[in-house]
Amino acid sequence: VRRLTVPAIQGRKVDGATAEPIVMLTAYTARMAQLLDTHCDMLLVGDSLGQVIYGLDSTVPVSLEMMCAHGAAVRRGSYQSVVVVDMPFGSYEASPQQAFESAARIMKETGCAAVKLEGGEVMAGTIEFLSARGIPVCAHVGLTPQAVNALGGYRARGRDDAERDKILADSKAVTDAGAFAIVIEGVMEPIAREITRSVAIPTIGIGASPACDGQVLVAEDMLGMFERVPRFVKRFDDMAGRISAAAERYASAVRERSFPADEQLYGVKRGS
Ligand code: KIV
Ligand code: NA
Repeated sequence: VRRLTVPAIQGRKVDGATAEPIVMLTAYTARMAQLLDTHCDMLLVGDSLGQVIYGLDSTVPVSLEMMCAHGAAVRRGSYQSVVVVDMPFGSYEASPQQAFESAARIMKETGCAAVKLEGGEVMAGTIEFLSARGIPVCAHVGLTPQAVNALGGYRARGRDDAERDKILADSKAVTDAGAFAIVIEGVMEPIAREITRSVAIPTIGIGASPACDGQVLVAEDMLGMFERVPRFVKRFDDMAGRISAAAERYASAVRERSFPADEQLYGVKRGS
């Protein structure tokens, strides 16, 4: 199978509507990418790996090195999805030039097809600079986790008119700047619907209602790896429970010396 392309994703939205919603999940490792790839249109190497993989308490400390290493692994593990890599905090905000250098490094080291960065109007110049130089950019508006220290937490955005107008203006600005898609995080349904209706590029929602052109979740959240998840997450499995149960069975088997058994031993005929 040929890998999907950024223009193909952008082209899924025709005359303001997306017939088949765009499916996106995060992946941080090659094996997870392999398992998710055939079911997705896009795989996001999210800087959420800071919390999910590294146990950090926000995405702020995530480095370019981490994003490059995990991005390369996900690219190697996938065959058909468009791989998008998050630009980490501090790697793009200072200037379009800084953003270009970081994005070019990410693309060279990972083979990804696009980068994602957080911010609306304030990042429009940067998005325009990258897009014009061969780097497809996915924007990210609404709740932007890298701004946790400025926002004072991870509350949903757009609860009053000023916030709502700001998110709409941000979405318009990144669209005009040349972003190929927008992740909308943590906003009320009417705002997501209004953005999706008013911009020509696909909107990918997370905690932003079914009004978006596509959906993204952190794979580990969706798989039920965590006991506590935000309201917008649906757990499609209970991997945390299954992993502890498997570890418990393994531990008992070792302690009672029933593992390893004959079938795991070299030099013993199977079934003997
Ligand atoms: O880092 C991340 O996982 C994201 C999302 C949109 C889920 O940015
Ligand atoms: Na992110």
